[in-house]
Amino acid sequence: VSGPVVLGIESSCDETGAGIVQDGKLLAHVVASSMDEHARFGGVVPEIASRAHLQAFTPVVRQAMTEAGLRLGQIDAVAVTTGPGLSGALQVGLAGAKSLAYAAGVPLYGVHHLAGHVAADTLEHGPLPRPCVVLIVSGGHTSLLLVRDLVREPILHLGDTLDDAAGECFDKVARILGLPYPGGPAIDRAARAGDPDAVAFPRPLTKSGDDPYAFSFSGLKTAAARWVEQHRQRGTEPPVADGAAALQEAVADVLTRKALRACRDHDVQTLIVVGGVAANSRVRALAEQRCRAAGIELRVPPMTLCTDNGAMIAAVGDLLVRSGAEPAPLDVSIDPSAPL
Ligand code: KG4
Ligand code: ZN
Repeated sequence: VSGPVVLGIESSCDETGAGIVQDGKLLAHVVASSMDEHARFGGVVPEIASRAHLQAFTPVVRQAMTEAGLRLGQIDAVAVTTGPGLSGALQVGLAGAKSLAYAAGVPLYGVHHLAGHVAADTLEHGPLPRPCVVLIVSGGHTSLLLVRDLVREPILHLGDTLDDAAGECFDKVARILGLPYPGGPAIDRAARAGDPDAVAFPRPLTKSGDDPYAFSFSGLKTAAARWVEQHRQRGTEPPVADGAAALQEAVADVLTRKALRACRDHDVQTLIVVGGVAANSRVRALAEQRCRAAGIELRVPPMTLCTDNGAMIAAVGDLLVRSGAEPAPLDVSIDPSAPL
């Protein structure tokens, strides 16, 4: 006998996602992004994101239903991101999800966006090993989490960025180096021709006495700006490839060093890396190298599941339904600054 069919909806930032999961298996996974519409502003514009969700919601859900070969009447539950995220963007997704749940006569489950990122990996690699450390690195988050049981126990927040997220750092430095938005992929590409040792960028919060799990990336942005300025003052253009390679090295070094430290401190054998920055080739290579050296298993889901999507929300919904969790009340609202 097959378990419940769960439709998941994600709309916390610039991606409108709908995914369908049954018994931990992915049946459909559709994402529409408004990233291109934000490009000329150099970052996500909330009003534009909300409108884009409104436009994309129904087509994305319909496409997911078609992909899974299902009608609304065959859905057993709807899961939706309630936070954290952009308030207007979350409202569009929640309103849509409430309507779908009401129309289908099925329960609605509110999902924490970060729990979704954690669960994304289960769609590729199966149930989460317990316990595991999860590094979530994207344009909006840089978090180190200790996960024991995703639906039965609270996620332990080990550390976070004190200022910019890692992806935000890539995006801002790319801009300083004259590379296009989103900056992460552009820096990754430019870095291939560069020397990571050409510039000695700092490794913030890695001295003894510093919080071992906290991150800070705004200093790197300042250091990059100063490096560009020094070149211009000498009347030369900065070697962009070297700057990109050195920045990437600094970010990858700090992220993986702290993630491995978290595994060691908590006697954890599995590290999961998710979020857009998990796409970074140097972050991946260094994580692989350091995990291998420490005898730790590294799990990185495929990129389409790493970035914001509805399938990861459906994956949490699926776990919630099967664990007998309470659905959300009818008057459930968004929680834009939801804590863990
Ligand atoms: O997860 P995501 O799609 O959206 C959220 O921010 O939630 O992550 C997007 C972020 C952007 O900052 C982008 O520059 C970064 O991930 N990114 C990368 C790479 N690909 C995407 N950063 C470094 N290297 C990459 N290859
Ligand atoms: Zn996210």
